[in-house]
Amino acid sequence: MIRPFRDEVARYGEYSKAGEFVYDHPFQWGSKRTGPDLARIGGKYPDSWHYNHMMDPQSMSPGSIMPSYAWLLENSIDTASTPAKIRAMQTLGVPYPAGYADLANKDLMAQADVIRASLKGDKIRSAANKEIIAVIAYLQRMGRDIKAAPKTEETAAKDKAGQSVMGN
Ligand code: HEM
Repeated sequence: MIRPFRDEVARYGEYSKAGEFVYDHPFQWGSKRTGPDLARIGGKYPDSWHYNHMMDPQSMSPGSIMPSYAWLLENSIDTASTPAKIRAMQTLGVPYPAGYADLANKDLMAQADVIRASLKGDKIRSAANKEIIAVIAYLQRMGRDIKAAPKTEETAAKDKAGQSVMGN
C-alpha cells in the first residue's frame, strides 16, 4: 500500500485508500518491501513487459535483484476451484451477484483471452490458461479503482473548481 508520504506519492501515485482493499480476503498489505510498491502498477507497462519481467527480471530491469518466476509460464491454473472460491468470497461479504460462481470461469476465460491476444500482438505465444496470464491480469488490475472511477456530478464540479477529488 502506498503510504501518505510525499516521497511515496511522488514515486507511486495517489496514496492507498482503505476502500480499495475492502473486498480483499485476506488483504495483501505487508510489513516489509524489497521491490517497488505495486499498489498502482496496473496500466504502467504492457502485458508483454510483465511476461518478460516475471520470466527474467534482468531482461527488463538490468541489475534487478528480483528472482525469476519462470514456472508461471508453464503451470496451468486450476479453474475447477473457481466456483468454490467465489462462493467463499460471497460468504465473507464480497457482493458478487447471486449465481455468479457458475459464470465466473466464463469471465475468467474472456479476460485471459484478451491478455493472450495482446501478448500475441507482441510476438509472445502463451495458452490462455497459464498462471502467468492470471498474474498479469492481477497486476494490471492493481490500483485501477481510483483511476477508473466514473465521474459523478459532485466530482465533476470539484474538478472544475480545481479541488482534489480524492478526499482526505
Ligand atoms: C510474485 C512475486 C512478484 C511480483 C508479481 C513482482 C512484480 C514486480 C513488478 C511488476 C516490478 C516492476 C515495478 C515497477 O517498475 O514499478 C517489480 C520490480 C522489482 N521487484 Fe518484484 N515481483 C515479485 C517478487 C519479487 C521478489 C521476491 C523480490 C526480491 C527478493 C523482488 C524485487 C524487485 C525489485 C528489486 C524490483 C525493481 C527492479 C525491477 O524492476 O526488476 N520482486 N516486481
